[in-house]
Amino acid sequence: MSEIYSEIIGTGSYLPEKVLTNDDLSKMVDTSDEWIYTRTGIKQRHIAADDECTSDLAVKAIQNALDDAKMSAEDVDLLIVATITPDLVFPSTSCIVQKKLGLKNAVAFDISAACSGFVYGLTIADSMIKSGMYKNAVVVGAETLTRIMDWNDRTTCVLFGDGAGAAVLRATNEKTGIISYSVKTDGDYIDCLKATGGPSATKTSGNIFMEGKEVFKLAVVRMPEISKEVVAKAGKTMADVDCFIPHQANIRIIDAALKNLDIPEEKVVKTIEKHGNISSACIPLALDIANKNGQIKKGQNVLLTAMGAGFTWGSVFLKF
Ligand code: COA
Repeated sequence: MSEIYSEIIGTGSYLPEKVLTNDDLSKMVDTSDEWIYTRTGIKQRHIAADDECTSDLAVKAIQNALDDAKMSAEDVDLLIVATITPDLVFPSTSCIVQKKLGLKNAVAFDISAACSGFVYGLTIADSMIKSGMYKNAVVVGAETLTRIMDWNDRTTCVLFGDGAGAAVLRATNEKTGIISYSVKTDGDYIDCLKATGGPSATKTSGNIFMEGKEVFKLAVVRMPEISKEVVAKAGKTMADVDCFIPHQANIRIIDAALKNLDIPEEKVVKTIEKHGNISSACIPLALDIANKNGQIKKGQNVLLTAMGAGFTWGSVFLKF
């Protein structure tokens, strides 16, 4: 029997309508556009409306991706929602999305891997597709991070935003789609980047807390390291990478990673300026933007690399 691969046949994304600029933020906390932009590369972020939940953002991104894939809702047999800001503690956001979108033939579950959520999700979908039991999967990263923001804490509230990005994967016997990947976890860093609450620990959802410098130092080492590992695993070199989509947390992390990877600027997708860090949604959102604006073309080699709370990190090498 020939080997099964998972190819991406559609991408989609959604950003809420409301925009909060750096200038808006400088009226709320002691900060400035200059400070935020030079340290992070962020100019603005989107904020979900009061009646918009993570599931609503996910639904819009998935619908967009299904349209791109020309696939109907009933054909989806697997739905993975990556999020750290679920609508409710339970049921999972994926069950809510399944109902809202009519994905009635899909087995649906959430995963929690913070900014690496979409990359983790792709690897899980790939394994389930490779098992032969699933043919059409949707992986979505969706977040309403502004709901767990301390708007008085200038060290975090300037960094994050809301949004969603999705990809539709299909089983194929051609050697295309996901070619290699690696995902890792190091729980020694649980206190570096976290929510300060949770249902079991505090009976609250808490706010985002981060030791920015520590995260920075590790991200600039681990993201290049795992990228190199995954490209080598695919039997390729960095020169074979046509498009690099790193997690969009901070432009300085991306630029430092690039130096270490020897990937030219024009091959890199940078969207952070427009939306800030949206955790699991960043990579699929950037993938969708690059797909729709022609930065990625069918058949090209794409490298996705993320790192986030946990720490979790991971990379996927795929033929688009
Ligand atoms: N506006 C103005 N000043 C601010 C500020 C803000 N929004 N946030 C912090 N400052 C101040 C600090 O209070 C500090 O002042 P002090 O020198 O008087 O004590 C000064 O700016 C420098 O703060 P510092 O934390 O050392 O800045 P930094 O250069 O490390 O940049 C981050 C801070 C958060 C931008 C940076 O550490 C970073 O990007 N880390 C990675 C974050 C990330 O990507 N996380 C997600 C990974 S998934």
